[in-house]
Amino acid sequence: MKGLQVAIDGPASAGKSTVAKLVAKRFGYVYCDTGAMYRSVTLAALQKGINVEDQAAVTKVAQAIQITFKPGEPEQRVFIDGQEVTEAIRSNEVNANVSVVAAVPAVRKEMVAQQRKIAEAGGIVMDGRDVGTTVLPDAEVKIFLVASAYERARRRFEENKQKGIATTTLAELQAAIERRDKLDSEREVSPLTQAEDAIRLDSTHLSIEEVVDEISAIIKKVEGN
Ligand code: DC
Repeated sequence: MKGLQVAIDGPASAGKSTVAKLVAKRFGYVYCDTGAMYRSVTLAALQKGINVEDQAAVTKVAQAIQITFKPGEPEQRVFIDGQEVTEAIRSNEVNANVSVVAAVPAVRKEMVAQQRKIAEAGGIVMDGRDVGTTVLPDAEVKIFLVASAYERARRRFEENKQKGIATTTLAELQAAIERRDKLDSEREVSPLTQAEDAIRLDSTHLSIEEVVDEISAIIKKVEGN
């Protein structure tokens, strides 16, 4: 049987990528992190010394670079034109600029085309902000994963501590998350919104495993129909 298309959307740090990766593993599906693609365009533009407000220049970068993924533990590895950027796309500089790049309509057009191609054959779990609404409107399973801003900041804080990454205070992290939420939900093109037919899952009081189990049960139910 052909694998399903599973879309997982939601705000920053709701645990989408951790959960999406585990769900993909459970079903033998491919995992695609669309946020990593916007991050890659941002990094490539910054490396070329381009001002991210220059939409034409940023669009050229999006059209020129080749973004590829390779499975890896604990994270999927990301490459720009064959060069590994898995860590570099998570830098503070990329964090601070990616919302601007992701709001450029022509950049989104290019990324969405690439994402549709990746998902074409099915058997895919794709996470992002607009997967269920724009990229794969016909996805058989759509999840909108949320958690309170405080809980998302707390998880990020713990994660940074564990990885030994220098971090700001919890309150500052929460403020940054709320700023990103606002930018992502208020932009004109493909804002962060829940698809009408998406299932909303609040992970504030759930463990990663509980979320993965819930989504897996939904997939199995759809597969059985
Ligand atoms: O999920 P993330 O933090 O890696 O996403 C990085 C940025 O890209 C964030 O500002 C939202 C944006 N993004 C988007 O606009 N559309 C997507 N499908 C995925 C991410």
